[in-house]
Amino acid sequence: MQKILNDIAAAMAQETERGKVADYIPQLAHVDPNQFGISVVLPDGQVFSAGDAKTAFSIQSISKVFTLTMALGKLGDAVWNKVGREPSGDPFNSIVQLEHEMGKPRNPFINAGAIAIVDAIMMGHQPKETLAEILQFVRFIADDNSIIFDHKVAESEMEHKDRNASLAHFMKSFGRIKHPVDNVLGTYFHQCSIAMNCEQLARAGQFLVSDGVNASTNTRVVSPQRARRINSLMMMCGHYDGSGEFAFRVGLPGKSGVGGGILVIAPGKASIAVWSPGLDTIGNSQLGTQALEMLVHKTGWSIF
Ligand code: DON
Repeated sequence: MQKILNDIAAAMAQETERGKVADYIPQLAHVDPNQFGISVVLPDGQVFSAGDAKTAFSIQSISKVFTLTMALGKLGDAVWNKVGREPSGDPFNSIVQLEHEMGKPRNPFINAGAIAIVDAIMMGHQPKETLAEILQFVRFIADDNSIIFDHKVAESEMEHKDRNASLAHFMKSFGRIKHPVDNVLGTYFHQCSIAMNCEQLARAGQFLVSDGVNASTNTRVVSPQRARRINSLMMMCGHYDGSGEFAFRVGLPGKSGVGGGILVIAPGKASIAVWSPGLDTIGNSQLGTQALEMLVHKTGWSIF
């Protein structure tokens, strides 16, 4: 495994087409695009890494997997009254489908869906209480208490919140957001600002590899059925309007973020995190996807 990852990192270092770093969140525009990291955690807890796997980055939308998991824990199947579970086929920050579907987001991974999910888990609490809960959950699944929010990234997003604020207000007009919009957005932006490195992120994904159990810490996080369902949502919706392309090229459940990270689950085989800040035109890591394609080719881990 180590040689495979070294080869992938070496190949990525040679790439000149590295995509474009997200700049609609100014704080992310400063990140050096010449970075690449990859980590693989096997079911027995062994970790293999190459490249910049210990450099923290903004996990952004990957956090939506963790808040969905929390929401399912708190609300159970009532989550599906708040959000759907179909691919949207639209960009991650699109508003168009909300008007035709009574303000109900198509799935929990598009921005509107993740905003509805955070509203659902707030349950009348203040943002800082919900944020403490989110951070505690991420630290628990990653088995790492050093994970933190990057407040500069969260503030930068708050300053440029217009699109997400529009989504939230639009949903509120249908009665779908219960808390004050600014509280929900502040919580959502902080959730997205969580900083993790590839090793931490791959560890956090472990419970989705082994039927809901984090095999390293021997703790059950969710039921086997719930783990399967979260994986299927990642498969169908984890890369927005690029989900079909990702399934075609990689063939594994994955969730991307505009920080350039991707968390990928090979059920029963491995939790994988890749990071390279340059994005393709849809907003998914360009080299991250390429690296995963190489990994799957060399390991045969595609589920198809
Ligand atoms: O709300 C936003 O636009 C960002 N905090 C998250 C978007 C994101 O990561 C989309 N992923 N590819």
